[in-house]
Amino acid sequence: MSTFCIYLFFLSLTFSIFNLTSSSSSQELQTLLSFKSTIQDTKNTLSTWSNTSQTHFCNWTGISCSSSSPLSVASVNLQSLNLSGDISSSICDLPNLFDLNLANNVFNQPIPLHLSQCSSLKSLNLSNNLIWGTIPSQISLFVSLSVLDLSRNHIEGNVPDTLGSLKNLQVLNMANNLLSGDVPKVFANFTKLEILDLSENPYLVSEIPEDIGQLGNLKQLFLQSSSFQGEIPESLKGLISLSYLDLSQNNLTGEVPKTLVSSLKNLVSFDVSQNKLKGSFPNGLCSGKVLINLSLHTNSFTGLIPNTTSECKSLERFQVQNNGFSGDFPVVLFSLPKIKLIRGENNRFTGQIPESILEAVQLEQVQLDNNLFDGKIPLGLGFVKSLYRFSASLNHFYGELPPNFCDSPVMSIVNLSHNSLSGHIPQLKKCRKLVSLSLADNSFTGEIPSSLAELPVLTYLDLSDNNLTGSIPLGLQNLKLALFNVSFNQLSGKVPYSLISGLPASFLEGNPSLCGPGLPNSCSDDKPRHHSASGLTTLTCALISLAFVAGTALVAGGFILYRRSCKENEAAVWRSVFFYPLRITEHDLVIGMNEKSSIGNGVFGNVYVVSLPSGDLVSVKKLVKFGNQSSKSLKVEVKTLAKIRHKNIVKILGFCHSDESVFLIYEYLHGGSLGDLISSQNFELHWGVRLRIAIGVAQGLAYLHKDYVPHLVHRNVKSKNILLDVNFEPKLTHFALDRIVGEPAFQSTLDSEAASSSCYIAPEYGYNKKASEQLDVYSFGVVLLELVCGRQAEQTDSSESSLDIVKWVRRKVNITNGVHQVLDSKISQTCHQEMVGALDIALRCTSVVPEKRPSMLDVVRGLQSLESRTCVANLQGPNGEPSIAV
Ligand SMILES: *[C@@H]1O[C@H](CO)[C@@H](O)[C@H](O)[C@H]1NC(C)=O
Ligand SMILES: *[C@@H]1O[C@H](CO)[C@@H](O)[C@H](O)[C@H]1NC(C)=O
Ligand SMILES: *[C@@H]1O[C@H](CO)[C@@H](O)[C@H](O)[C@H]1NC(C)=O
Ligand SMILES: *[C@@H]1O[C@H](CO)[C@@H](O)[C@H](O)[C@H]1NC(C)=O
Ligand SMILES: *[C@@H]1O[C@H](CO)[C@@H](O)[C@H](O)[C@H]1NC(C)=O
Ligand SMILES: *[C@@H]1O[C@H](CO)[C@@H](O)[C@H](O)[C@H]1NC(C)=O
Ligand SMILES: *[C@@H]1O[C@H](CO)[C@@H](O)[C@H](O)[C@H]1NC(C)=O
Ligand SMILES: *[C@@H]1O[C@H](CO)[C@@H](O)[C@H](O)[C@H]1NC(C)=O
Ligand SMILES: *[C@@H]1O[C@H](CO)[C@@H](O)[C@H](O)[C@H]1NC(C)=O
Repeated sequence: MSTFCIYLFFLSLTFSIFNLTSSSSSQELQTLLSFKSTIQDTKNTLSTWSNTSQTHFCNWTGISCSSSSPLSVASVNLQSLNLSGDISSSICDLPNLFDLNLANNVFNQPIPLHLSQCSSLKSLNLSNNLIWGTIPSQISLFVSLSVLDLSRNHIEGNVPDTLGSLKNLQVLNMANNLLSGDVPKVFANFTKLEILDLSENPYLVSEIPEDIGQLGNLKQLFLQSSSFQGEIPESLKGLISLSYLDLSQNNLTGEVPKTLVSSLKNLVSFDVSQNKLKGSFPNGLCSGKVLINLSLHTNSFTGLIPNTTSECKSLERFQVQNNGFSGDFPVVLFSLPKIKLIRGENNRFTGQIPESILEAVQLEQVQLDNNLFDGKIPLGLGFVKSLYRFSASLNHFYGELPPNFCDSPVMSIVNLSHNSLSGHIPQLKKCRKLVSLSLADNSFTGEIPSSLAELPVLTYLDLSDNNLTGSIPLGLQNLKLALFNVSFNQLSGKVPYSLISGLPASFLEGNPSLCGPGLPNSCSDDKPRHHSASGLTTLTCALISLAFVAGTALVAGGFILYRRSCKENEAAVWRSVFFYPLRITEHDLVIGMNEKSSIGNGVFGNVYVVSLPSGDLVSVKKLVKFGNQSSKSLKVEVKTLAKIRHKNIVKILGFCHSDESVFLIYEYLHGGSLGDLISSQNFELHWGVRLRIAIGVAQGLAYLHKDYVPHLVHRNVKSKNILLDVNFEPKLTHFALDRIVGEPAFQSTLDSEAASSSCYIAPEYGYNKKASEQLDVYSFGVVLLELVCGRQAEQTDSSESSLDIVKWVRRKVNITNGVHQVLDSKISQTCHQEMVGALDIALRCTSVVPEKRPSMLDVVRGLQSLESRTCVANLQGPNGEPSIAV
């Protein structure tokens, strides 16, 4: 108490001394307060800005002071605070203000010219506000600025001549406004300019001013998505420092000046896509190439290898797509040391892809569709290990595909449709991330390679219009194919119904020898083999019964263990830790855990409901102790999990363990699991309730992923592991079991066949076993689909239409009106808009590409934004009673 008083005393002493010695500081404080007084701060983010504040103004929100003495404000950075009101010139009373950043607010006014009175201001950022009006000719008053960012506002009218006076500018950004007219020749003075951005001004109908070419220090020139027309001025080759050139999406015509690309020696990105350019690129583009002989272990060939001292050695991105270019595509690009992206689609380029492409060790993406390329697909392509997209459809490529063409471990999209390729389709094994493969409309012969079935994320497969023979590999039915088109080949034999169920019949047509349900031909051997070979259904059934047998075995095993532990109980090998006063002994637990109290078995062990002497119920999960986890580390891990406090996560009340087993004691919830509810005969839950369940689950997962320390991954999200209390509040259970059984045991259990075929498990688990948040997001997406469709993720009935829910939905939503077919028909039309919103989120969560999935936090926000729309009103029954059913 007294120490505190003394502290206060010293504090006030310090302040008064401070105030005495530095009246200029107190003036700056008043200046800031007066600047604040005209600003509307709806979120009260400037609460520290106050004359009664204990904080020195140098420590107020957004303020930085120069380190000189006395302290003086150097920078005011108030971006993204939803501020509005007037930007008053009083801020210019700060004598050393250097940087003013008010970006990402809602200031609604003309350009604040009066800020030109700020004598020391060098950088003014007003990006992304509601600034309107024209650029006045007095803009020249800002002559001392080196950075002016007015992008993303509503500024209109012409660019005034007087802009040319701002000769100290290093950065000028006017992107994304409503500027119009002709850009005058104002750039000659801008000798220091490094970044010029006039992009996204759709009314800027102008030629590219020639004098831009004089900007010898310019590093970045962005003129894309405006309405620039006419030719690209020859003068641009004077931009000797330029790294980024973007002229895309304009109305440019004529040819690209012959020496432009070669002159810009520091160029990293060259983009003239989506214009009306024509002509060819010079043969000597990026001069300095040499012809050398190169021999690979497999065969030898002659290739063009760029001289390492050649031009363009920093070029990473070359984009000329969607123009009218012709002539040979500049072949040297394919083997530049840093090249990552080459896009030339939709032109009339001729030429070939050289074997030397193997020199392009950073190449990620090549798109050359719809041109006149010919020659063979080079063997060298398969040596580029960074390639993830290669599309060259609608060209004249011929010959066989090299066996290694899909060897890049990151390859995701291959499109070689509409060429003249022939021979067999090679077995593809190494591209474990392949999502889409189209080889349609070529002349491939032979069989569909069975190895396709081992590519875990393959989703789009188009082999139509070839000359393929043989039968459709059975293994393909295990993939989540959203598109499977083999029409117009010469395939024969039985089509597994589940492979094609939900897809248009036209994907099979033109194969007169195919037979099976839904096809014109039924298979001659249908009758006798009906039981053993009715396709996936039987297989699924088999898998499910396998799971069941495995489960039963576990139960039996558990039983034996139970007996043993019961007997050995006297030997007191049990150790228990209770986090709540449970008043129960291990003995009570063991006695309480019997066949009658078992409420189900998961892959990790049985779950029992045990009645405590107090009459309360607890739920006990019995884990067979796999690893050689010491009892100390086990205790640490369970304690870590037991400390979680979140309304959507089941509490761990305690645990006991012997040498053989671990009993995890969870709170018991009376509502059963969401999985039980969905699988019940008459699952009828109102949409509003379903949405709240989804939000709760998402919040629980977001908490585990981001808020709880250590961050946890649930790794076992499924509707059976979501328990409901009597108010339908969901709680996640059986989370993070990997920490208790240990990673190796966890993985080997998941890898057991029954578990790994579960449709809650994301497909990339096939090539990457690492725990990741994205695996949880995928599983959550499956649960959300169950809620939206009112359908179990894995149908256990044996009807022919049973398909895992992800596959089923993906196939449906791609057909007209398909979206409305997947929505649970038991829910009223008035909710459909919200349900479509949730479906969209679920589809993103279940994206094949893990990086495309949203975070759980994004999911929570997305789902919450669907709440409180029209359909909530239905929650009220006729008498104003809350009604749960539809
Ligand atoms: C503090 O600010 C309020 C209003 O902003 C003003 O009325 C008051 O006089 C100021 N006090 C001092 C000590 O400057
Ligand atoms: C600002 O806050 C920091 C940390 O709280 C402190 O060290 C510093 O002295 C403060 N600056 C002024 C000028 O009060
Ligand atoms: C942002 O400011 C506007 C207008 O000043 C106000 O209507 C709106 O509610 C504010 N938004 C937030 C999130 O505070
Ligand atoms: C202006 O602020 C925005 C928002 O923070 C930022 O993205 C932009 O880079 C800034 N402009 C300059 C020139 O630094
Ligand atoms: C260059 O700046 C001077 C004033 O400093 C101005 O008179 C002249 O017009 C400017 N040149 C251009 C091309 O804008
Ligand atoms: C491109 O220019 C032509 C005439 O030169 C004009 O008709 C057309 O509207 C322009 N297109 C765009 C997108 O500006
Ligand atoms: C590469 O080009 C440079 C100059 O252009 C030349 O000196 C060098 O000999 C060339 N290297 C090869 C391997 O041809
Ligand atoms: C398929 O093979 C037949 C004969 O073997 C041939 O006539 C036909 O042109 C081939 N079709 C294609 C698309 O290559
Ligand atoms: C949808 O199906 C059409 C053919 O029916 C196909 O061209 C398209 O690629 C499919 N799109 C998706 C996303 O599956």
